[in-house]
Amino acid sequence: MNQFYSKHSNSLNGVVEVPGDKSISQRILILGSLAIGTTKIKGISYSEDANNLIKNLKLLGVKIIKQKTSAIVRGVGIGGLSPTTKKLYMGNSGTATRLMLGALCNQNFEVKFVGNKSLSNRNMYELIKPLRQMGVKINCKNNKLPITIKGFNETIPIIYDQKIPSAQIKSAILIASLNSPGLTTIIENTPTRNHTEILLRKIGAKIQIKKFKKKIIIKITGQKELKAKNISIAGDPSAASIIGSAALITPESEIKIMKVNINKTRTTFFNILKKMNAKIKIFNKKEISNEQVADITFKSSNLKGVHLGKKTVANMIDEIPIFSILATFAEGNSSFIGGNELKNKESNRIKSLYEGLTACKIKVKKKMDGLQITGNGKDNIFVNAKIKTYYDHRIAMAFLVMGLASKKKIIVDNINCIKTSFPNFLTLMKDIGANFSKKN
Ligand code: S3P
Repeated sequence: MNQFYSKHSNSLNGVVEVPGDKSISQRILILGSLAIGTTKIKGISYSEDANNLIKNLKLLGVKIIKQKTSAIVRGVGIGGLSPTTKKLYMGNSGTATRLMLGALCNQNFEVKFVGNKSLSNRNMYELIKPLRQMGVKINCKNNKLPITIKGFNETIPIIYDQKIPSAQIKSAILIASLNSPGLTTIIENTPTRNHTEILLRKIGAKIQIKKFKKKIIIKITGQKELKAKNISIAGDPSAASIIGSAALITPESEIKIMKVNINKTRTTFFNILKKMNAKIKIFNKKEISNEQVADITFKSSNLKGVHLGKKTVANMIDEIPIFSILATFAEGNSSFIGGNELKNKESNRIKSLYEGLTACKIKVKKKMDGLQITGNGKDNIFVNAKIKTYYDHRIAMAFLVMGLASKKKIIVDNINCIKTSFPNFLTLMKDIGANFSKKN
């Protein structure tokens, strides 16, 4: 095991950039592969998840050239992937798995998806159901990986009324519909991140998006050729949330993060930080490749507790681990509820957080698909605590950040998972002053 610990740190300071957004990186790799022409991707995330996806797309006949922080993808067109492999190893990535299941619906051959232990535990039922409705043959046990899929050239257009919010499932259906002869409709009852829609529109898909009361109605007509376009990807707001939060709880700290994606579907956490009294400033806003981008500063703050409802939780699903850590340093109680989807992430995040916070002797109570956390203010964590991460990168990073403002050490059991999303996390944190060490 690769154990690591973090300890009280004096102050964190610096101007940094975080890796390119992982969601956009994975989407453009797939969409670029299905487009006609060459896509140059600037600022791509070379996380382990993206690297595995690149390997898989290459196995399916796509030419991809990796450069330092960019990539070149030579698209093969919708329906143009080739069956040069019978098996795809998806590592830890739920996003790549779901999106590639969507992409392989368009291809008239059979492929088996396999993954690591954490991914093989994740339930894929909510995606398998609509894909079967589209006519795709899917074989698996208990709706989990390994999954064998046999696509065909023309998926059946469907109307999909999404009850459980998920950007991955919405995106998989959108990608599957690209070779459907007609109109596919997706009704999003709770809006989720919309990067797939933005990219599809940019590369010429026939897609229409309308608001109807609180719902979003997406209509896409298949069998329209996609035209490759160059894309620049800004920093991942979920990665920025972790680094920024470290500055909020560490005394005398100020960190500026340059060029962060601030798409409205990704900034709920930043809005919640303002409610928690956090000193956060978002400025220098501009648009890059149809996405909103800005620089953000985070300064040490006296946080106060807040309560999050179901819709808020759905929109900061990746930030709930770091939110829970901030809650322990806030004055008063905080809570989140209605996060059923949190149970089907890289780990069951409600369980991982409950166990981790309990190990730190934080007062924490289980609530309807959520937790109530009693804040201790700035004085915190008087015991050395060992955290089980269950191979969940966000749990590992959140608890390492907690150690920076704790009186005692926080040890995480395995840091290998961090490279699935943020390979330079440890070096970046050490560079700005974090007291992190390998445990011998
Ligand atoms: C992602 C969507 C989110 C998020 C995940 C990445 C994506 O999951 O948790 O880390 O790239 O579409 P949902 O599918 O639950 O929205």
